[in-house]
Amino acid sequence: MLTPEQIQKNWQQFEFYIKHHISQERADKLWAFYTKHEERFIMMPASHKPQYHNCFPGGYIDHVNRVVEAALKIDEVWRSFGMIDTYTTEELVFSAINHDLGKFGTEEQEAYIEQTDQWRRDKLNETYMFNDRLEYMSVPDRGLHLLYSNGIIPTKNEVLAIKLHDGLYDESNKPYLVNFTPETKPRTSLIYVLHQADLLATRIEFEKEWLPKLLGEKKVEEKPKSTNFNLNKNNSGVKQKALKKLANPALADIMKNL
Ligand SMILES: [Fe+2]
Repeated sequence: MLTPEQIQKNWQQFEFYIKHHISQERADKLWAFYTKHEERFIMMPASHKPQYHNCFPGGYIDHVNRVVEAALKIDEVWRSFGMIDTYTTEELVFSAINHDLGKFGTEEQEAYIEQTDQWRRDKLNETYMFNDRLEYMSVPDRGLHLLYSNGIIPTKNEVLAIKLHDGLYDESNKPYLVNFTPETKPRTSLIYVLHQADLLATRIEFEKEWLPKLLGEKKVEEKPKSTNFNLNKNNSGVKQKALKKLANPALADIMKNL
């Protein structure tokens, strides 16, 4: 779980990554797209099942920022080993920022909506469920479609990195990643750097939330069942303090209503 202050800080960090690393024209279009759906992006979880990673309000941007940070560091490691320069820092950050964009759903429909089955809320601790009004599309395909349909054109490197970011965890990536001749191997290491960054971020999120519990160091926390999206309405002291600091009026509104 994140505090309102952390959620707000994450959104500011996300804005910084876009404005600092992406060239002006694409940064303007990206920021316009993300701010058009600001409330949704700020509150989105990274997944819809509590067993998966960052399944809580603000979990999506928290995850994306971690992937960007990890990608920048993993890029340095690869370069220190003599990786040939086949991609730009802008391509690295753009791919990291947008790698999971398909989790957003469509501009009309959220992919992760409030769980309406009380039994699943009570017994399985599920606060979200997948919105089955959405037709099937893989996360990378949906993300790339969202970018193109908003006039934000990714480079070939970025398309490959976003498409293949799950590595061999996604069977459909095999033709790109299992190769037996040099000619058919990927021509850029960007896809491996992004995959490793995503793997690292997801593993760290698992460790933070689950490992201490599994190792018996922490009691499994009961998530509040009566509130929407886990934010505790009774935690008004902390919430009011955070609300005062919120620069973003949209987020302040959302927090007030939780
Ligand atoms: Fe991810």
